[in-house]
Amino acid sequence: MTDPAFDTAVTRAYGTRLPIVAGGLMWLSDAAYVSACARAGIVGFLTAASFPEPDALRAEIRKTREMSECGAFGVNVSMLPKLVPGERTQEIFALIAEEGVRFVETSGRNPEPWLPMLKEAGITVLHKVPSVRFAEKAQSVGVDMVSIVGAECGGHPGLDLVGSFVNLALAERRLKIPFLIGGGVGHGGQLVAALAGGASGVVIGTRFLVAEEITAHPDYKRALAGARETDTMLSMSSVRNTIRTLKNETAQTVARMEAENPEIGIEALLPHVSGRIGRRAYETGDVSRGMLSAGQALGLTGEIAPLARILGGLEEEALAALARLRPAPARSGEEIAV
Ligand SMILES: Cc1cc2nc3c(=O)[nH]c(=O)nc-3n(C[C@H](O)[C@H](O)[C@H](O)COP(=O)(O)O)c2cc1C
Repeated sequence: MTDPAFDTAVTRAYGTRLPIVAGGLMWLSDAAYVSACARAGIVGFLTAASFPEPDALRAEIRKTREMSECGAFGVNVSMLPKLVPGERTQEIFALIAEEGVRFVETSGRNPEPWLPMLKEAGITVLHKVPSVRFAEKAQSVGVDMVSIVGAECGGHPGLDLVGSFVNLALAERRLKIPFLIGGGVGHGGQLVAALAGGASGVVIGTRFLVAEEITAHPDYKRALAGARETDTMLSMSSVRNTIRTLKNETAQTVARMEAENPEIGIEALLPHVSGRIGRRAYETGDVSRGMLSAGQALGLTGEIAPLARILGGLEEEALAALARLRPAPARSGEEIAV
């Protein structure tokens, strides 16, 4: 039986057991991973940008549905201009609606232009933003839920770099729609803290990178499992596209180039930051090169394990956190000290 504390707007929206969302992971959120999330009782999102050919995305959606055993899943549409140009966004949303997908996670840009068609198709929109001011904007344009990922997160923490604990408190004061907190979440106690602070759930990326169902070389996962919270770094802020990645040769080269020439521009950085190099690292396990998104929750990853076991650990920690907050009821006949 799931603890009633975990019954939130998030579990009700997705029909999931736990108020945890597995955020889209470029190149890594495929049918194997997303369906493992569904089977384990949380919702995950295929990354549309990892499947540039519409037929490939369509096939991956169908495969995910088959493997999900009726569990919830959705598609992440990162609307960063470089990844998915505007014209494709429309096409991707149309394909998602056609395939009967019920959930999307949007990020990178205001989804307002597409909300009417998504609502028409009965799709629940979870929009991801890097700070509470953007969450307020998303709320005003009518998204269903919003996740706010703080400075600790793997991938793009935005430019404000506000930490997740401050985001939680600000969001509780400023938002009326259900919100999730992400960035650095890798312990069940953090889920309870988020729920106590007014969130309806958490979004996780980094902590799940060591899941057995993630399609990546074992050496990549071993490197992450052995990494610490201090093994990430920020770069790309000179081109207003700040990213937190594993601290490796590539990230250090990019940061040095930016420090030497703050006006450097994306063209000069592209040979280092191209997604293809990162993708190769997932295939070969050589983590010294490529911009490999990873957050401070690396310090909480532990060993490579099936996703269900990782989730089981988070749930146990969350229950222990709840028990710390709830005093044990007095047993009959026991005197209550005054
Ligand atoms: C390897 C990796 C790839 C990611 N790719 C995407 C992506 O394509 N689209 C997106 O919206 N978010 C992406 N994210 C962000 C995650 O969905 C999630 O918001 C974030 O990882 C949460 O913070 P955490 O890493 O501290 O758990 C990525 C994160 C990681 C670690």
